[in-house]
Amino acid sequence: MDINKPRYTPMSRRRRIYEGKAKVLYEGPEPGTLIQHFKDDATDFNAKKHDVIEGKGVLNNRISECLFQRLNDIGVPTHFIRRLNMREQLIREVEMIPLEVVVRNVAAGSLSKRLGIEEGTQLPRSIIEFNYKNEQLGNPMVSEEHITAFGWATPQEIDDVMALAIRVNDFLCGLFLGVGIRLVDFKMECGRLWENDLMRIVVADEISPDSCRLWDIKSNDKLDKDRFRRDMGGLVEAYTDVARRLGILGENERPQGAGPVLVKG
Ligand code: TMP
Repeated sequence: MDINKPRYTPMSRRRRIYEGKAKVLYEGPEPGTLIQHFKDDATDFNAKKHDVIEGKGVLNNRISECLFQRLNDIGVPTHFIRRLNMREQLIREVEMIPLEVVVRNVAAGSLSKRLGIEEGTQLPRSIIEFNYKNEQLGNPMVSEEHITAFGWATPQEIDDVMALAIRVNDFLCGLFLGVGIRLVDFKMECGRLWENDLMRIVVADEISPDSCRLWDIKSNDKLDKDRFRRDMGGLVEAYTDVARRLGILGENERPQGAGPVLVKG
């Protein structure tokens, strides 16, 4: 099987495997592959707020591609194979572990609320948290005890997930620091990739400004989805800035579908 050989299937004939708030998964061109499609939809944590932000999906596809490709390059296993077009990427099909793995370097969001620590406080060390992926329950925070007791992952798998989370965090902290951005926190998801009888845990889903807190080093400006959650506006501009700094978009390039371009006369 050559998974790198493109085979195009018209959108209408594709089998939809799963539809989430911001992404759709379609059957891939070869067994064991899927197509991950990034939508423009934005929702807050409990999906109470919903909006369509033109251009967000295109930017997340490009930014997530960049981050996953770099992780692949340094030997961190991920589900990512390659980007197919503006909104889609080819990925390996994995068995998702029903956890959100949150890594925090700086206090913000729910940690600040829960523990009364001022946003922006540097944490004494990176902290890993787990949320059980269950929308109806509001993705509650759980401990390793819950995870093993309810069979969502084994103790060995939790160790593997935590080791991956630390490697991803170390790498992304350095990468973002290099372009003047502080990685405050991020969420990642993992899956089991089966190769014959061997199973290994890989990073799956996406890593983008939708699932990270990214603050400008100097100004502390938010370059992430908090701009939507906190009704600050300027989300596409912030994501475009992240993409530019990562070298994805050229100086004058705009993500397709991001709205009208002002042409100066
Ligand atoms: P939190 O402070 O709201 O718990 O979020 C921590 C980080 O995880 C933040 O970068 C946003 C990300 N996150 C998601 O991407 N999806 C989620 O469902 C949650 C709870 C957090």
